[in-house]
Amino acid sequence: MSSAKIKAVIPAAGLGTRFLPATKAMPKEMLPVVDKPAIQYVVEEAVSAGINDILIILGRNKNNISNHFDSVPELEHNLAGKGDHDRLQRVQASTDLADIHFTRQGEPKGLGHAVLRARSHVGDATFAVMLGDDLIDERDELLTTMLEQNARTGLTVIALMEVDPDHIHMYGAAAVEPTDTPDVVRVTGLVEKPKKEDAPSNYAVIGRYVLTPGVFDILERTEPGKGGEIQLTDALQELAVGDGVLGVVFRGRRYDTGDRLDYIKAIVQLAAAREDLGPDLRPWLKDFAADL
Ligand code: G1P
Repeated sequence: MSSAKIKAVIPAAGLGTRFLPATKAMPKEMLPVVDKPAIQYVVEEAVSAGINDILIILGRNKNNISNHFDSVPELEHNLAGKGDHDRLQRVQASTDLADIHFTRQGEPKGLGHAVLRARSHVGDATFAVMLGDDLIDERDELLTTMLEQNARTGLTVIALMEVDPDHIHMYGAAAVEPTDTPDVVRVTGLVEKPKKEDAPSNYAVIGRYVLTPGVFDILERTEPGKGGEIQLTDALQELAVGDGVLGVVFRGRRYDTGDRLDYIKAIVQLAAAREDLGPDLRPWLKDFAADL
């Protein structure tokens, strides 16, 4: 299937407790990373991989997200009247990006439950799931490679990253075997957020998945797991021991914007690399760091 036909699902229903009070009245996906909300980067990544039908699964405080991808006629009219085409273009960019749909999760029963809410929109087709907390640097390739692996094999493909074993308890962890392709592994088992001593490896699941539609039937019967939530990892474990799951090992730049320290690092790194802000920010950063 060409990626033009593949739909992406972005679950954006998490409570954002790590960012309270900023997320008291605003979804964490709307926190700005330089000058765009985090979720816009994820939508842009989908579009770069050739996906232009995107379903966002909303939780509470939904309006900010859907408003962001809608037009704002009075603001646009005002900017056009002033001849501020640069800002007008930036305001319109998020509206014109892709064909964006929304649905509600209802009760927050976990990532697996959120993904299941996409079933009627996705239908009987392979689809991508992209978690809004994980930003993949646009200079590094991931989703396209995953789509290629799925197109080649027809299998579910997940993204993995080697992490410090002390951090594996924050992720789904994968047991893996090598394949003939470098950085493509066969996933033989998955466990959600294991203790360090129980983890099958230090290969962590990161927030990009290319899923075959069979996952929906599995999710329908997946019992609540870790944290009392319906875990996508548990459904993928069933696929790993059944049809088979491949892992693409990512070695590029990933920012976990759900973590406060990583969020700050993401803003600094992305701003330092930008043409408009980098030339002023980089020398300032050097002076600032020299005084620490
Ligand atoms: C989710 C998944 C976990 C995965 C992580 C990646 O957890 O359940 O398997 O490793 O995303 O960011 P969350 O971070 O939403 O708790």
